[in-house]
Amino acid sequence: MFSKELVSKFNNLPTPFYYYDVLILKETLKVINEESRKYNYKVHYAVKANANDKILKIIKEYGLCSDCVSGNEVKKSIEIGFARNDIVFAGVGKSDDEINYSLNQNIFCFNCESIQEIEVINQLSKAKGKIAQIALRINPNIDAKTHLYITTGLEENKFGLNQWELEEVVKKLQHLKNVKLIGLHFHIGSQITDLEIFKSLCIKVNEIQEWFSEHDIILEHINVGGGLGVDYENPDENKINDFKSFFRLFHDFIELKSGQTLHFELGRTVVAQCGSLISKVLYVKKGVNTNFAILDAGMTELIRPALYQAYHKIENLTSNSKKIKYDVVGPICESSDTFGKAMLLPETKRGDLIAIRSTGAYGEVMSSNYNLREKVKAYYSDEIKY
Ligand code: LLP
Repeated sequence: MFSKELVSKFNNLPTPFYYYDVLILKETLKVINEESRKYNYKVHYAVKANANDKILKIIKEYGLCSDCVSGNEVKKSIEIGFARNDIVFAGVGKSDDEINYSLNQNIFCFNCESIQEIEVINQLSKAKGKIAQIALRINPNIDAKTHLYITTGLEENKFGLNQWELEEVVKKLQHLKNVKLIGLHFHIGSQITDLEIFKSLCIKVNEIQEWFSEHDIILEHINVGGGLGVDYENPDENKINDFKSFFRLFHDFIELKSGQTLHFELGRTVVAQCGSLISKVLYVKKGVNTNFAILDAGMTELIRPALYQAYHKIENLTSNSKKIKYDVVGPICESSDTFGKAMLLPETKRGDLIAIRSTGAYGEVMSSNYNLREKVKAYYSDEIKY
């Protein structure tokens, strides 16, 4: 992934920074398109995973639609050039301003998460003399068996409408004239690596669809969200997910009604493997039981390890010496500012360049100014000149 020429170029750039391999991103998008178009599926990109302008522009060029969770994400998608009619807006807490803005933009659909939200959207669209298209986000009560903080599809999570509320929703909708129900939305969690879990989702969706058919409700689309996990252990061997099996599984197990389209909202699997956080070793320090490699990047640049105990592969790009164990840590005044404990790395010294891999998703976009640190820059493989 990192040629000698590239590493010597990195040496001249101020660290830390995000590096994006544009070819990996484009290859991933090509495969997503090839495999999803076999079944006429619509793939939205979950902007929350990485909202970097250049990354968004490439994703848009490849024809993906957009999935947003804030008014600003809707705004950003429009600025980048996504068609308004390709934008969905989800989230448990949409503010009146965000709803009004999105109504003005005539987005494709609001994915609604509570009865009260549907009433508010109806009221706001009535004031504008509009009819807002909505989908019901239904909580299918499926355990995604992923990290607790990124599990979303269980009844105990705050997301979506529970199945026992549907009767009431459907009754209410008969009186709400400024919203039009056009679809159902599901999203059960993130970093799901076992395809069987998506199979359970398909079976659940079929059951729920039956319920709507029995109530004579026709739905134009089903949106099954995102969640496909990536291989954080082997980013070079598994740069691109097995999208063939992923989309085929839905084709095999989901029973669409005639004329219905299936939508996806993929985030991590689109962008994770094209990004790396590049950092320099500031100091190497001996602890009681371990050595510390102290980097100039910290939880401000990449919070996933601190927040979810997430694993990211760490590589020393400038040393080939024999391997030693290090706790790889950042400079922030928090003990959780640790990228990995007891990581085997070639003997590491001040000034070595470190790559923290698979950080294209939920990396740069979750970075902060904590400790009044500067937000880091991003560089791209097609812009770096040798
Ligand atoms: N659709 C909805 C409604 C979502 O809530 C999410 C992610 C996605 C789609 C995209 O899911 P993906 O394909 O990326 O799994 N910050 C966490 C991940 C949070 C995911 C939130 N929702 C992390 O770094 O692991």
